[in-house]
Amino acid sequence: MDDTSRVGSAKGYADLQDHVAALEAAGLVHRITEPVNKDTEMHALVRWQYRGGIPEHNRKAFLFTNVTDSKGRKYDMPVIVGALAGSREIYRMGLNVPKDQIGAIWQKALENPVPPVVVDKAVCQEVVIEGTDLIGVGKGLDALPVPISTPGFDSAPYITAGNFVTRDPDNGIQNMGTYRGGLKASNRMVVRMATRNGGAGGYPHWEKYKALGQKMPCAVVLGCPPSVAYTGPQKVTRDVDELAVAGGLAGAPIRIVKCRTVDLMVPADSEIIIEGLIDTTQLEPEAPFGESHGHISLEDFNMIFEVTCITHRKKPMFASIISQVTPSESSSIKRDAYEQMFLAHVVKTLGIRSCKRVVMHEPLTNLRRVIFLVMQQGTPRTEVWRALQGTAMLRADCGKYVIAVNEDIDPDNTDAVFWSMAYRSNPSQDVQILKYRDGGHGPKGGAHSFDGTMLIDATLKGKSAPLALPKKEYMEHAKEMWERLQLPPLTPEAPWHGYSLGDWNEEWDDMAKVATRGDYMENGKRSEGLRRSGLKPNTPFRRDGSTPEPSNND
Ligand SMILES: Cc1cc2nc3c(=O)[nH]c(=O)nc-3n(C[C@H](O)[C@H](O)[C@H](O)COP(=O)(O)O)c2cc1C
Repeated sequence: MDDTSRVGSAKGYADLQDHVAALEAAGLVHRITEPVNKDTEMHALVRWQYRGGIPEHNRKAFLFTNVTDSKGRKYDMPVIVGALAGSREIYRMGLNVPKDQIGAIWQKALENPVPPVVVDKAVCQEVVIEGTDLIGVGKGLDALPVPISTPGFDSAPYITAGNFVTRDPDNGIQNMGTYRGGLKASNRMVVRMATRNGGAGGYPHWEKYKALGQKMPCAVVLGCPPSVAYTGPQKVTRDVDELAVAGGLAGAPIRIVKCRTVDLMVPADSEIIIEGLIDTTQLEPEAPFGESHGHISLEDFNMIFEVTCITHRKKPMFASIISQVTPSESSSIKRDAYEQMFLAHVVKTLGIRSCKRVVMHEPLTNLRRVIFLVMQQGTPRTEVWRALQGTAMLRADCGKYVIAVNEDIDPDNTDAVFWSMAYRSNPSQDVQILKYRDGGHGPKGGAHSFDGTMLIDATLKGKSAPLALPKKEYMEHAKEMWERLQLPPLTPEAPWHGYSLGDWNEEWDDMAKVATRGDYMENGKRSEGLRRSGLKPNTPFRRDGSTPEPSNND
């Protein structure tokens, strides 16, 4: 289990290349040695892993060692795609914890950040490129094997695994966020920092530098220890340094070094650092680019990043994240951390302990819009509603649809969710629609800039009759038989056996046992003795005299 930390133990944590080596040793890397065009082939190839019916647990990272481009150029630098969160197993290895500890390590890191330590010498500064060496074809940014993510739609190669470091000019606290950077020239890119509520932490810094009449120093960390990469997309409270949270995740302080041309500190054990100044007087059109909400972002004015210096390791590896339509690496890299943030809010801040899990729906919808709360059966309805409302309100851009279900419903199984909505909620009582939600993260256009919220309580409200599948022991026995008969392989789907939902008693249980014993006639004698006259057919029979709620359901 300590695979990655052992490899990078001198630092106390793994850097990107240590992590990739650990992934490869675990059989989690497809090493592609044949020439692959970064402009047309690379991301399209990896995309098949997410659109080709490959189960989540079989997903791997892709290491391209023979990278070319549409101009016929060859790059020495290998490109790695999917090494941060290509699958949950890859993400777990990056965190160096068992899967069931992922939530706990995030809670620990957020509650106990470990401040970074400053070092003088850093591998990320072994090679320094400055001045005229940044200008011209094949130099500066143009020397990096930056792939095109969505060939046919994107207007440029884009940096997708870049962590953009900026500093608040008022309090000196650094922010680090994963933002996209579209290449424009060998020494210029345009960066998109979301200005919406709950958007990029770098944007308020830009506003402050603008008010000061100064350019904003910025450094892009490209390829870094996984613990650092995982904090870039995380929503950390403003004014908490993400590198300290990364230290909490790594269990050791992150070693940082001062940039050469800007007054910023960056992780020393990184692959590549791009230093620069962001203009605060002018903006430049950026995109089209395929976004993580699964649509193409159309052209907007965004921030101009003028490169002042590029530093890198002697033999760096270029990291790229596959994003766009979800599931993708960019949704998987956020999912656990975001779910933990919501769970902590509901359980710790709101004190609703009967909320057992928060699940953010990932395929196609991209986490933010559809959120499930898994509530213990029997939670008072008022508490279910407090949890629904609290979840919808925590962040401006998350929780357009919030749905509460019980623990026997797997929110990742859409059939089970519809089942729960179909039988456990009454739309006239258990649904609320709230007005005035921010448009959030989504495609531009139409009337989508102003949105609403729908809350659904799809939990059981009282007792219900059991699920009509054979009891567990019969299904287990039948499965053994199925396998003995060498019938086609099974992939059990929950629910695969019946269980009580409250409206069930010992007498009925005994009758079922009698029937399975072959003595159904005994049950016939029992009911013969219970005959009554003067009743309408379909009148419920209960031995204890209770009267179930009238219904036309059967
Ligand atoms: C692959 C990837 C690309 C992203 N691109 C952007 C982007 O271009 N702009 C942006 O504002 N957020 C982007 N995000 C989301 C931010 O990383 C996320 O909102 C994060 O919280 C930002 O950190 P901050 O709050 O410290 O700014 C991206 C996330 C991922 C994983």
